[in-house]
Amino acid sequence: MTALTQQPSAIPLDVFPDGLKTTGQHPPLYNELHPFDKFPREISGQTVWKAEDYRDAPERWTHRFTAEEIEELSTASDNFLHNKIPLTGISKSNFLLPNLAARLHELRADLIDGKGFILFKGFPVEQWGNHKSAVAYMGLGTYLGYFVSQNSRGHVLGHVKDLGEDSTKIDSVRIYRTNARQYFHCDDSDIVGLLCIARALEGGESDIVSSHHVYNVLAQERPDVLKTLTEPIWYFDRKGETSAGQDDYIRTSVVYLERGENARVYTKWDPYYVRSLTRFSDAGIIPPLSAAQVEALEVLEATCNRLSLHMILEVGDIQFLSNMHVLHARTAYTDYPPPMPRRHLMRLWLATPEHEGGWKLPFWDSNEKKRGGIQVDDQAPVAPLDAE
Ligand SMILES: [Fe+2]
Repeated sequence: MTALTQQPSAIPLDVFPDGLKTTGQHPPLYNELHPFDKFPREISGQTVWKAEDYRDAPERWTHRFTAEEIEELSTASDNFLHNKIPLTGISKSNFLLPNLAARLHELRADLIDGKGFILFKGFPVEQWGNHKSAVAYMGLGTYLGYFVSQNSRGHVLGHVKDLGEDSTKIDSVRIYRTNARQYFHCDDSDIVGLLCIARALEGGESDIVSSHHVYNVLAQERPDVLKTLTEPIWYFDRKGETSAGQDDYIRTSVVYLERGENARVYTKWDPYYVRSLTRFSDAGIIPPLSAAQVEALEVLEATCNRLSLHMILEVGDIQFLSNMHVLHARTAYTDYPPPMPRRHLMRLWLATPEHEGGWKLPFWDSNEKKRGGIQVDDQAPVAPLDAE
């Protein structure tokens, strides 16, 4: 058992009433990072899938909510609202789903250990409005994982929307707050959910890819690239979302092994976060990306693009993805002119700790219920109903 460093200090219960605090981003346990020759030559199993396996078979990854399921979600949401519990206090114990729970339990297993994605359809967001939709969505999410903070403001209900921020300022602007393209990446949680409230006029479409399929292809075509991705030579920006005493960046690898026996390959990647650090590399504080690293990130993006499954989210759709073994991207988009609403997705970041079936990650917080996410100091969790 590895000595776990960086354990949290006491958690103030006046700020975190459930005693659970998002642990945030950390350097890996460096002694749990392994050289490339310890990695598998090829990955097999359900997490390896090809776009052609699913492209013409949406029934294999789409579930339209039945009238009974919507009724169950509606009743649970009305009860929750009636009890006047703050949205940040929602949990399985105050959002009861007597019938749907079993289905969600299966889905959770499929997200963690199976193909790693699903698209729900028919969430009646227009009928319910943003508040009840948020309750029903977060309530559903509590059956998949523990919600974690997504930014320095403590947002546990995130809002993906173009706020007119400058997407070229990648050292300070989070791309989800712009209309720019997002390259293939993972979010900082075990599972990510996106509920579509409003669509763009054009673009904003989703692409996903099995990182285990990408791994197998790179192992065949470009093992040198794969090796570079396993080396702890990559600096990831915190983009200023930094707690007292933390560095502004994290040195780590991109492709990891789980801890322990039968270790699976884990990928944690976002090119914007490694490209944005020139303010430190220009000053000689960290090394700039090497030619091999620049090539690796370009080959990774191109390979993901080539192998990806395209998906469009309509109003009332919910996409849940694994961040352990699925990478996702979105196309740039253009919103409708006012007074039409802008594209709006409600986002959940959900954690699945190791002792509840989550992956054995090479980070100190692998067993924490709210592992991952982005937490700055003791910022309290908040669940705003729209972007702010
Ligand atoms: Fe994302």
